[in-house]
Amino acid sequence: MPMGDQQKDVYRTTVTVPPSTAARSYEVIVRSDLLDQAGEPIADLCPAHRYAVIADTQVADLYGKRLLEALAAAKLEASLFRFPAGEWNKSRQVWGELCDTILRAGFGRDSAVIALGGGVAGDLAGFVAATYMRGVPVVQVPTSLLAMLDSSVGGKTGLDTPMGKNLIGAFHQPAVVLVDPETLKTLPLPQLAAGLSEAIKHGLILDADYFEEIAGRLPAVFDRDSEYLLRLIFRSVELKAGVVSRDERERGYRTVLNFGHTVGHALETLSGYGWLHGEAVAAGLVAEARIGEAAGVTAAGTAQRVQEVLEAARLPVEPEADVTADRFFRALEVDKKRKGGSVRYTLLTRIGEVAGSSGSGWSKEVPEELVRRALFG
Ligand SMILES: NC(=O)c1ccc[n+]([C@@H]2O[C@H](COP(=O)([O-])OP(=O)(O)OC[C@H]3O[C@@H](n4cnc5c(N)ncnc54)[C@H](O)[C@@H]3O)[C@@H](O)[C@H]2O)c1
Repeated sequence: MPMGDQQKDVYRTTVTVPPSTAARSYEVIVRSDLLDQAGEPIADLCPAHRYAVIADTQVADLYGKRLLEALAAAKLEASLFRFPAGEWNKSRQVWGELCDTILRAGFGRDSAVIALGGGVAGDLAGFVAATYMRGVPVVQVPTSLLAMLDSSVGGKTGLDTPMGKNLIGAFHQPAVVLVDPETLKTLPLPQLAAGLSEAIKHGLILDADYFEEIAGRLPAVFDRDSEYLLRLIFRSVELKAGVVSRDERERGYRTVLNFGHTVGHALETLSGYGWLHGEAVAAGLVAEARIGEAAGVTAAGTAQRVQEVLEAARLPVEPEADVTADRFFRALEVDKKRKGGSVRYTLLTRIGEVAGSSGSGWSKEVPEELVRRALFG
């Protein structure tokens, strides 16, 4: 189980994945200005001969030099490898190019990867680490809100394909996660909102008080109030770590984290990645709350409240106008194949609680006709 601890302005938690042993635990450290002091924890918690720092061009320009200087100050040898920013670069091609460049630079089995950036860098660099010379350790240094409070924790790494998102990948838990919320000062507003949708999801599935707290503190988030952002990141990490600690590989309970994502992934693919991941998830959260109500599983009025809060968080709550029912169900086919011939939804009973049990599972099949009526009238 995760163990939370707050001392002054530092939050630390330990994520332990089953089978629980010391070797399967790692720390998530959240502290302002950690980027400039990243050398010491990396040397301690992920010792390696050389470090390959992987970042997209945008984040590399903003923070690459500072991280390299922090590593040099701790006498660690590191080089920066860049890839072009954008979800469409979470691809086999870019993964191959990165691996080849790092191989040509002579990095051996005693190296480690440092993923610096948003969820795209985290998933892509994590997959490079999972596969490079059959696997080297990875340190996650998330810089987007979504990556800080969600994607850097839990060990999912992977790539998108023309057939759908995240279809090639591996579980590869990080050696340590280092979060410096000060980097959020440069994050564009839409990206900040997109990150919020995963935090709101954590509240919806696990903690009603947290959901309402976020709803009441949206101005603090958009003002980039450091104190509240620290609290938000830490509470989300704690909630996600609790889930991952019970089920690392999504064989059961981890499915609760997929609330909003069955519809969300389809909408993200249909947008041609014009929508940010978190934006598609937001519309997915409302849609799946509606589906739950239509199926008689979710308390009446839930979808309305979810919609209000996401709207206030400046996130989309309806599919884009060109998403017809036919296009939508065709996009869902990928999910269907992935999950053994049926489309499954994680549904809420009410805000803060997912429907299901270890016996009956944490997701449900819903008849297509009912989904059609709930989403397209
Ligand atoms: N592995 C998981 O468990 C998991 C969970 C949720 C989402 N994801 C994945 O995460 C990805 C989405 O992540 P994302 O929203 O962070 O996208 P992203 O990595 O593309 O980052 C968004 C944009 O913000 C920029 N950026 C990042 N940090 C910045 C900063 N501090 N200042 C200025 N610009 C900055 C990036 O350059 C990029 O252009 C998707 O691919 C999704 O599938 C993975």
